[in-house]
Amino acid sequence: MSARVVLHDVDEAALAELAARLAPAARGGGVIHLAGELGAGKTTFARALLRALGVGERVKSPTYSLIESYCVAGLDIHHLDLYRIAGAGELEWLGLGDLWSAPALLLIEWPERGAGALPPPDLAIALHHAGLARTVDAVAHSARGRGLLDVWKGGPAVDRAL
Ligand SMILES: Nc1ncnc2c1ncn2[C@@H]1O[C@H](COP(=O)(O)OP(=O)(O)OP(=O)(O)O)[C@@H](O)[C@H]1O
Ligand SMILES: [Mg+2]
Repeated sequence: MSARVVLHDVDEAALAELAARLAPAARGGGVIHLAGELGAGKTTFARALLRALGVGERVKSPTYSLIESYCVAGLDIHHLDLYRIAGAGELEWLGLGDLWSAPALLLIEWPERGAGALPPPDLAIALHHAGLARTVDAVAHSARGRGLLDVWKGGPAVDRAL
C-alpha cells in the first residue's frame, strides 16, 4: 500500500519547515528521492532537513561534488546530486553502490539519473514550480516512508491525503 500527500502553494519558508518536520522520523535512516526540474527546491529541502538533523551550517550543495556525507549522532547521511551522472553505470564506477549497503539516510536529488542503480525510495518527493511557489507531491513506498509522511498529514497545509 502506498500513501500520498500533495501540498500546494508552498513557499520557501514553508518548504524548509516541511523538511525540518521530517527530521525526527528521518533519524531512523531511509531513502528519500528528491525529484523536480532545475531550481525546483530540492537542495533547499535537503538543506533544511540536514540542519534539523543537526548538521548545522555546514551544508554544502553536492552539485559539483556529487555527494556530501555527514555523520550526526551515529547516523550516516549521504546527500547526492546526480544531475551530472550520464547513466546508472557511472554510480558503480564511482563506488557509490557501497553507500547503501550500510544503514544510512540517503537524500538523492535527480534520482532518475541513477534509475536502476539506486535503492528504491521509502519516500519519493517531487517538487514542481507553481508560480512563485512550489507544489510538493510525496509518495511513500514503505512503512518507513509512511512514517515520514505521517508527519505531514493532518497539518493545515495538507491539501489531499490518499
Ligand atoms: N518553495 C519555494 N518557493 C519559492 N522559491 C523557492 C522555494 N524553494 C526554493 N526556492 C528558491 O529556488 C531556487 C532554487 O532552489 P534549489 O537550489 O533548492 O533548487 P534545486 O531543485 O536544488 O535546483 P537544482 O536542480 O539546480 O539542483 C533558490 O533560489 C531557492 O531560494
Ligand atoms: Mg539542487
